[in-house]
Amino acid sequence: MNNNILIAGSTGAIGKEFTRFYCDDPNVGKIVTLSRKLDDTEHKKIQSIEIDYSKEESFNNLDKVSELESINTIIIATGILHTDQIKPEKSIDSINFEAFKNVFQVNVFGPMLLVKKLMPLIKRSQGVKIVFLTARVGSISDNELGGWYSYRSSKSALNMMISNLSIELQRTNKDHITIGIHPGTVKSDLSEPFLKHVKHNIFSPRESVELMTQVISKISQKDSGKCFDFLGKGIDP
Ligand SMILES: NC(=O)c1ccc[n+]([C@@H]2O[C@H](COP(=O)([O-])OP(=O)(O)OC[C@H]3O[C@@H](n4cnc5c(N)ncnc54)[C@H](OP(=O)(O)O)[C@@H]3O)[C@@H](O)[C@H]2O)c1
Repeated sequence: MNNNILIAGSTGAIGKEFTRFYCDDPNVGKIVTLSRKLDDTEHKKIQSIEIDYSKEESFNNLDKVSELESINTIIIATGILHTDQIKPEKSIDSINFEAFKNVFQVNVFGPMLLVKKLMPLIKRSQGVKIVFLTARVGSISDNELGGWYSYRSSKSALNMMISNLSIELQRTNKDHITIGIHPGTVKSDLSEPFLKHVKHNIFSPRESVELMTQVISKISQKDSGKCFDFLGKGIDP
């Protein structure tokens, strides 16, 4: 059966829930999951591949994806905001070169190199939806609070990549659609240290994925290159 899906970041809160959601969907064929440590979710639809954006050689594992005849949806749900060594910067004084580089490596370089590697598969497929998990804080026009220099700017850069990729694919594969999607504030390791300050609604990963999958199912060619929130409302760059 076709309708194959690839999910990067399948061990993260949101990626794991996307995987569960599509495992339960009878219309979905194979699911390729990409994660740093082999994803142990057991399901007959799943093929699991290890990939770590900070280890260039691990991108070669993607050769295994070439066994797929075609792909229909690619969801890139990887990202970092903080690690044991990295704290989101409150001011320019706290900018650190290594930390900045690591955030860009995971949030920008990794996803784009991943798509580069998947290009042969994408090109031989039809009507592929390429969905990047972005964040509202990457919107320059929406920036009211400042701070989080590396995370914000990495998501702004990712949004530019989404726009670029969409333009390039318009030339070669007109029926492909590339979008960014903001999942809302979602309970996860990434958001956990900041949730106590949040005044708006906090979603469970399931709630967010149920909303985002509706948006993904409805996007069309005219949406390509743009970013949306979990309700399908456009986010200005
Ligand atoms: N949660 C929110 O409120 C929120 C809001 C706006 C946007 N987002 C975006 O949503 C996406 C998913 O976030 P989440 O909340 O699900 O966070 P999460 O639970 O922390 O998941 C992050 C994922 O990124 C993977 N990752 C980290 N470093 C990596 C590397 N070097 N190479 C490959 N994969 C790596 C993690 O792998 P491991 O499991 O191996 O660590 C994990 O699968 C991110 O792009 C995030 O920016 C989230």
